[in-house]
Amino acid sequence: MYMGIMFLTLSLFSFILYNNFSQDLYDHLDSLLFFKADGIIDSINTYWDAEKIEALKDGSWNVYTKANNKNFIKIAQKWVENKSSAEKVNDPRLINMIVQIFDAKGKHIISSKELPQIEVLPEQIAKDVINGKLYFNSVIIKTQTNKMLHYRQLTVSGTEGNKVAYIIQISSSLDRLIIEQKSLRTIIFIFLPLMVLLTGVAGSFLASQTLRPVRSMTDTIKKITSQNLSSRIGVPETNDEIAELAHTFNIMLSELDLSFSAQSRFIQDASHELRTPLTIIKGEIEVALKKDRDSSDYQEILVSNLEEINKLTKIIENLLVLAKFDSPEIQVNIERVNLSEVISLVVRNVKILAAAKNIDIKYSYDQDYFISGDRNYLQRLFLNLVENAIKYTSENGQIRVECSKSDDFCKINIKDNGIGISSEDLPNIFNRFYRADKARNTAGFGLGLSIVKSIVELHKGKILVDSELQKGTTFTVLLPLD
Ligand SMILES: Nc1ncnc2c1ncn2[C@@H]1O[C@H](COP(=O)(O)OP(=O)(O)O)[C@@H](O)[C@H]1O
Ligand SMILES: [Mg+2]
Repeated sequence: MYMGIMFLTLSLFSFILYNNFSQDLYDHLDSLLFFKADGIIDSINTYWDAEKIEALKDGSWNVYTKANNKNFIKIAQKWVENKSSAEKVNDPRLINMIVQIFDAKGKHIISSKELPQIEVLPEQIAKDVINGKLYFNSVIIKTQTNKMLHYRQLTVSGTEGNKVAYIIQISSSLDRLIIEQKSLRTIIFIFLPLMVLLTGVAGSFLASQTLRPVRSMTDTIKKITSQNLSSRIGVPETNDEIAELAHTFNIMLSELDLSFSAQSRFIQDASHELRTPLTIIKGEIEVALKKDRDSSDYQEILVSNLEEINKLTKIIENLLVLAKFDSPEIQVNIERVNLSEVISLVVRNVKILAAAKNIDIKYSYDQDYFISGDRNYLQRLFLNLVENAIKYTSENGQIRVECSKSDDFCKINIKDNGIGISSEDLPNIFNRFYRADKARNTAGFGLGLSIVKSIVELHKGKILVDSELQKGTTFTVLLPLD
């Protein structure tokens, strides 16, 4: 295909080149022929004028006109005899031209050189020339030895007064021109296929060179499934678009890999968390069914079962909330929310919880802060954080909640002096189902902070945590102000 187009354009180019070149050669030759004819007519006129003076002297002039054959043949012969000396001053390119002179009727009078005799001019040429035209034509003349000679000819008429007196035909060999045409043709016929072949081979080599990494990329990509997202495609060492493509693809693979493994870890963790209460319920029922029991025994078992069922319900509720955040069309009800007020309400609601552990909880804010957000989600966000603070703080502890301004954000600090979080656990506390070991003897599923993080992100905010074991923990939430 590529080579075909190449061949076509080059052919067209060569064709135009060849035609222009030939045309130029012919034009040049024709102008030389014309130049020569002009010179001959001039010199014949000179001879004629000399003759005329002689004739005037002896009073015989009125009998002669150029059309008078006998006299004109004399002039023409004289001219042809002296021609070789006259030509010496002429352009060397003119030397090899052959001059033939015909009379006004087209009958041959004399030739300057051997040329297979043309006794009479072809009728069409004679007619055109007598009408005053320049007649250019190319002829092939066969010699006695059967050689083909190519000539370019110009035929013009010489006049006397308004009448045609004689006709001159100049012939120039086309041998040199034909040789030049031939050598150009040879060049074209050798170089054209060679160039097409060369560019074709080079082109396909280059194409295969550039496409090789793409092919290997395709091979790797074909093998990638959700099972082996950890495989990466080779990035070519070049610094081009293909390398960039490979690199971008690898980044995409990493991201997919991360979210796929997070997803499957989440499913494992969720199943595990759901299984524990179910195992307990199953065990209790099995034990209960082993023999007949009092109604008080049954009641005890049912109460315990209900407890486990409540746990299950809570886990499932939390999972549903998290799943909502994962889905692209999460339903939110964004409105202008007085954040200072929302937090105030949350703190008031947990007062009883804190009082049960004799924890001193205080909330302070310097002014009302307004943000656009979902009121319910914001309540849940701060409830989770404050509940954690109470849960992970020992009796008689202290919790401080503060709301202030920081640049374009509302900054909320939730500070406790509880058990703290070790630096090993700190990076993981926002992961789903993650609970620090120390927290194992308190109730919980490790989903609270995951939800907190999702809500903060939904509001285009940030959450930071600073903690020291046995000293306490401070969570800082930054939410963009309205
Ligand atoms: N204020 C806090 N003080 C100490 N540890 C905390 C605090 N808040 C969270 N944590 C740690 O982070 C873990 C994750 O919290 P969370 O997601 O709310 O789960 P849960 O409260 O159900 O355990 C907790 O298990 C606990 O180890
Ligand atoms: Mg919690």
